Amino acid sequence: MCGITGYIGTDDTGSIVHQGLENLEYRGYDSAGIAIAGESLTIQKTEGEVGELSVPTHADGMVGIGHTRWSTHGEPTAPNAHPHTDCTESVAVVHNGIIENYEALKAELRDRHTFTSDTDTEVIPHLIETHLEDGVSLVTAVQRATRRLEGSYAIAVTAADHDGIVVAREDSPLLIGHGEAATYVGSDATAFIDHTNRVTYLKTGDIARLTDDDVTVYNDGARVQRDTQTLEWDADAAGKSGYNHYMLKEIHEQPRALRQAISGRINDFETGVDLDIDLTAEYLRAVEEIQIVACGTSYHAGLYAKELLETAADVRVTVTIASEYEFSGGRDPQETLVVAITQSGETADTLSALRDAIRSGARTLAVTNTLGSTVTREADETVFIRAGPEIGVAATKTFVSQVATVTLLAAHLGEARNVLSTQATRDLLAGVQELPGAVQQILDQEPTIKEAARTHADSEAFFYMGRQAGYPVALESALKLKEISYDHAEGFAAGELKHGPLALVTPDTPVVAVLTAESAAEKTLNNVKEVKARGAPVIGVTSDPSHTSSVDQMFDIPECGPLEPVVANVALQLFAYYVADEKDRPIDKPRNLAKSVTVE
Ligand code: M6R
Repeated sequence: MCGITGYIGTDDTGSIVHQGLENLEYRGYDSAGIAIAGESLTIQKTEGEVGELSVPTHADGMVGIGHTRWSTHGEPTAPNAHPHTDCTESVAVVHNGIIENYEALKAELRDRHTFTSDTDTEVIPHLIETHLEDGVSLVTAVQRATRRLEGSYAIAVTAADHDGIVVAREDSPLLIGHGEAATYVGSDATAFIDHTNRVTYLKTGDIARLTDDDVTVYNDGARVQRDTQTLEWDADAAGKSGYNHYMLKEIHEQPRALRQAISGRINDFETGVDLDIDLTAEYLRAVEEIQIVACGTSYHAGLYAKELLETAADVRVTVTIASEYEFSGGRDPQETLVVAITQSGETADTLSALRDAIRSGARTLAVTNTLGSTVTREADETVFIRAGPEIGVAATKTFVSQVATVTLLAAHLGEARNVLSTQATRDLLAGVQELPGAVQQILDQEPTIKEAARTHADSEAFFYMGRQAGYPVALESALKLKEISYDHAEGFAAGELKHGPLALVTPDTPVVAVLTAESAAEKTLNNVKEVKARGAPVIGVTSDPSHTSSVDQMFDIPECGPLEPVVANVALQLFAYYVADEKDRPIDKPRNLAKSVTVE
């Protein structure tokens, strides 16, 4: 995934576009560039992070576009960085997505056009150049050029001597921000949230012309109206608020994020849930199977959801890594609900699985954090996790908010299917309501967890094991550690220890055991003995003080029933953070990763 920003207005264009790129850097950060359009184009590019890109100060234009890149086609070099231009260097294009037929287009254009990069994007300015030669407007040239493109794209285009920005989207997200005598464009709202929270989400197939005080949107050649809405996010929510890293700030935001996830959704007397979805009790009673599709951290939330849903709603649940999903035979789509869990709502693998489910005729439900994202437009129903903006590439608050939200879903299904008694529903919902306080208790133990992380930071590798809901937490905690510290970390179902991972256990490989209630802690304690016999230091995460003597170190978790493992995860987020911090890693922007992966 990459980031697009753009601005048209009378303020300092160079600084505004540069700031937009800094805000977007979490989307990709291996190269960046800016184009400012006036009588001519001024282009600056850099290999590396946005900080290495100087703010354009001598540009005379009031129109600017910028891009921060996560490479797919071509290495992260300055020539491959966007914006890309035509032969005359008067058309500049920034692009997210993939042009699938770029090789054929390049072959067709090569006779009359000179290409200077290895990217798929570069065909776009040359196609636009071809149409501008016919004397048409920039918006018409973009309309004609995009008709030739196959694949997914969000593009922003500007050109010397043209008084605006033209944008187009096909699948990849793009939205417009409306300011005072200023118009913004961004691949997400963080691009311009410092300036305005009034936005218009473009739909797939839309092409729009932006001036400082007007936006005209076309679809399929005809003018269309798109709604403007006001986002609840503000600039402060997207800042670091004094923390060294977004990740640490977002870990600390979890009690608030959880309160937002729950707020207004639990009815009086704690006996019902209102998720504002249009799935009738009759339909939910008829559902034979729930298929969850997701990637990465969201996949781990899906595994957690399976534990909760099967218990609370007595329904068969399968959880599939989205890139491996295919609506399989032997299933009746009418009796299958497909749930796509995705923080960004833009993950290509998850969207592809969702589309497969839609084609099969199954009902679909999205669980996401992102208003206006593609998943919300394509799924039949959406439940928002309401975690607020998450900038750190490592997902933290969105994982706990996903788990809290699917707990509400489990209670809703359990009630609708007459599985949960009123008392059982009440207990489950009381557990969700206790989550913010329980997470705060973990945050209060930060100094102890930090000390443990420092002690183990130089270890050769880390292992995490757990059972039942402790298993997805083991997977998630290992993912967190490996992605930000670059240490090898592996999570597995504790029962699998002796079927392979035990061969790697040594005195230099700490083992973290999730020993929370309802995660079959007694059995996992046998595995603890097995790793201790090989000399491995063991950290136990538990609410049961009687386990103290079995482990070398304890992280204490407050009791909260089936949600105890997700609270344990918060302790292990802090552990991962401080191991990475000790190694001085770029925690918010781990190498080779991006916040949302919009290519398959
Ligand atoms: O936006 P999504 O939830 O669909 O993203 C899926 C994964 O790319 C994501 O959860 C990733 O694994 C995390 N950022 C890792 O911390």
